[in-house]
Amino acid sequence: MLLFRLFGSALLLRVGNVFGGGIMTGKQCSSSSIRYLNQSEAVALDQDLFNEYKFSVDQLMELAGLSVAMAVAKVYPPSLYKSSLIVCGPGNNGGDGLVAARHMKLFGYKVAVHYPKRTPRPLYENLLHQCKNFGVDIVEQLPHPKDLINDYNILVDALFGFSFKPPVRDELKPALDALLDSGLPVCRYSKVIYLLFCCT
Ligand SMILES: *[C@@H]1O[C@H](CO)[C@@H](O)[C@H](O)[C@H]1NC(C)=O
Repeated sequence: MLLFRLFGSALLLRVGNVFGGGIMTGKQCSSSSIRYLNQSEAVALDQDLFNEYKFSVDQLMELAGLSVAMAVAKVYPPSLYKSSLIVCGPGNNGGDGLVAARHMKLFGYKVAVHYPKRTPRPLYENLLHQCKNFGVDIVEQLPHPKDLINDYNILVDALFGFSFKPPVRDELKPALDALLDSGLPVCRYSKVIYLLFCCT
């Protein structure tokens, strides 16, 4: 989802350069004109946004989360996929997920967040606080992955960003298993970025 963070915020600034121009004109685009950033390109773009364009983390996170929520709503509308679970990791990626949760709630989803490893910083604490105030359920203990289908129609993967390095910590394994083994539709950023580009 960190790519989202980049793309959501870079939308009007930089992505045209990254993609060789042509697609960020606000017009329709075709999938053939899109390629994905690799890890080092993503890191570089992130740095540019902070250093060159002077965006703050909060700004990027808000744009990213809103972009995710909009893209999810476009593909999996709340009228058909009413109940969502957003699986949030400890870093910026998880922060994007918390923002997405708040917006998805406003879009009419029933929203739950699983946030097993919390970052004790005001930014994250405030985002979580906002989720609670907006009526997002905070799920401490996930059911078995195969049982998620009883409670949810769609999952959003906000677990790891481009700075992820293996191995996955034990405390995050249930969250990862949920995303891998539920059999539910999982919104991951690669898919949603495409939609973000082509459908907005
Ligand atoms: C990422 O892409 C750049 C070109 O844009 C290339 O120079 C670099 O080697 C690539 N890195 C990896 C790990 O593939």
